[in-house]
Amino acid sequence: MKIGIIYKSVHHGNTKRIAEVIVNSLGGDLLDLKDIKADVVKDYDLIGFGSGIFYSKPHKDLMKFVEGLGNVEDKKAFVFSTSGRDKLEFNSMLKEKLSGKGFEIIGEFSCKGFDTWGPFKLIGGLNKGKPDEEDFKSAERFANSLKEKI
Ligand SMILES: Cc1cc2nc3c(=O)[nH]c(=O)nc-3n(C[C@H](O)[C@H](O)[C@H](O)COP(=O)(O)O)c2cc1C
Repeated sequence: MKIGIIYKSVHHGNTKRIAEVIVNSLGGDLLDLKDIKADVVKDYDLIGFGSGIFYSKPHKDLMKFVEGLGNVEDKKAFVFSTSGRDKLEFNSMLKEKLSGKGFEIIGEFSCKGFDTWGPFKLIGGLNKGKPDEEDFKSAERFANSLKEKI
């Protein structure tokens, strides 16, 4: 099974760090969204999609990328995010779009990430040091749980 992990991580590299942990545990290719085109999807059987959360949504470039994909068959996907508030529901929009394209969603992950948006900057940011070792361990457990589903 060929695995690709696509991420968009623009604020503090929080989601990239999680993507790296997942790829180290699961294997596969780590793909920065800015370096790829939609046709890369055909090369993979399982694809992870992750980004920070901006105004309660995954990064708009990641959403656009998924919206631009054709329908797929026999492909699995998982989603992951980092955010100030760490709500698993932030993944819902991405999961729905992927399901609509025909992906079978086999898992999702979220954790907190350092956040210096707007007023939070004035107080030194939220979640300083996040994601941290605990989050990396959770991400590794998540990656291991995926192995049982592929
Ligand atoms: C403009 C902006 C908007 C954000 N909106 C939200 C939000 O609605 N909810 C939330 O929990 N975090 C929000 N965040 C925090 C980011 O989701 C968080 O810092 C995330 O870990 C960034 O990931 P990245 O470093 O991989 O880009 C926002 C951050 C920025 C800069």
